Amino acid sequence: MRVGGEHYRTIWASDDGASVRAIDQRRLPFDFEVVTLRSSSEVAAAIADMTVRGAGLIGAAAGYGMALACRDAAADRDPGPTIERAAHELLASRPTAVNLEWAVERQRAAIAGLRGAELVERSMATAERIADDDVAACASIGRHGAELLSAIHQRTGRVVNVLTHCNAGWLAFVDHGTATAPIYTAHDQGIPVHVWVDETRPRNQGSRLTAWELAEYGIAHTVIADNAGGHLMQHGEVDIVITGSDRTSATGDVANKIGTYLKALAARDNGVPFYADLPSSTIDWALTDGVEETPIEHRDPAEVTHVDALVDGEQRAVRIVPEGTPAANYAFDVTPARLVTGIITERGISEASAEGLRAMFAAAPERMDDD
Ligand code: MRU
Repeated sequence: MRVGGEHYRTIWASDDGASVRAIDQRRLPFDFEVVTLRSSSEVAAAIADMTVRGAGLIGAAAGYGMALACRDAAADRDPGPTIERAAHELLASRPTAVNLEWAVERQRAAIAGLRGAELVERSMATAERIADDDVAACASIGRHGAELLSAIHQRTGRVVNVLTHCNAGWLAFVDHGTATAPIYTAHDQGIPVHVWVDETRPRNQGSRLTAWELAEYGIAHTVIADNAGGHLMQHGEVDIVITGSDRTSATGDVANKIGTYLKALAARDNGVPFYADLPSSTIDWALTDGVEETPIEHRDPAEVTHVDALVDGEQRAVRIVPEGTPAANYAFDVTPARLVTGIITERGISEASAEGLRAMFAAAPERMDDD
């Protein structure tokens, strides 16, 4: 994506491979800053405090974190213990997005038995491949999803109104995004699109991040309070709901930012199609009941009792509930497959069901081959 005319990914390795650079998402939209992460521990901390966030980006960051750990351990007679400590620290940083485990496992398989220069080179090549695959998958999701937006436009002859929740945009991945990728592709094809952007309390990824990136791309959009979606759907103001997914069960249940389930319920009640866009790296093939089995992250209640705002030119946490009031911060919910019209992946559009996903991924994904 371009920011101020310059092309950026959300994360990339420094030229010498000794550090990783990433856009600091805690500062957006007030400031555009790039941070340097010099060790796997710093990468794990950046995932936990959401300097980097979003399923695909968490996976890519974990891939780079493992590469930094391999670099640190390369001279050891047995680099295994250092690398495993780093893997555990990365895996503990956030629980819901399965991409984290997926990327760590992919690194473990690629570097098994290696040491020295070979370990350094292979681990960094694997990290780059994880990032490149994420970019390619999101671009492909954009092409498949744009066909839906084009069909809506052809049918109605007017602007296509998309509602999205949270940020499954390019900031949540390495580039393009998932929920936003069809919007960008459709826009590039000349299809008029307007996006209803849920603010997405408590951290406001919608009003802060999605609104920022849509504006950068020149896409018409309107930020709405999280509770407005049902009303808009009742009045024919939403043609399609598109969200991302942080962990997708093998049966098509999708775990996404808290509040997504309510949007899916409203969509079903109003006959509005609800699509989840996701690269196959978010599918947890071992999970058969997403509602019961998805690990749901509980974050600091301070994210609910306070909002981050720009006060006198400075970013500050501002209290919005009475002092001492208890708060709970459930970060994700799960939308059952029965409410999902379809799943858009890099391979095309599938039914949200075990049969649909199995048929789409009957052949092994090419990108698993890191050798
Ligand atoms: O807590 P976050 O910001 O890391 O949550 C991830 C999300 O942005 C969403 O749930 C998104 O829609 C899923 S795809 C990255």
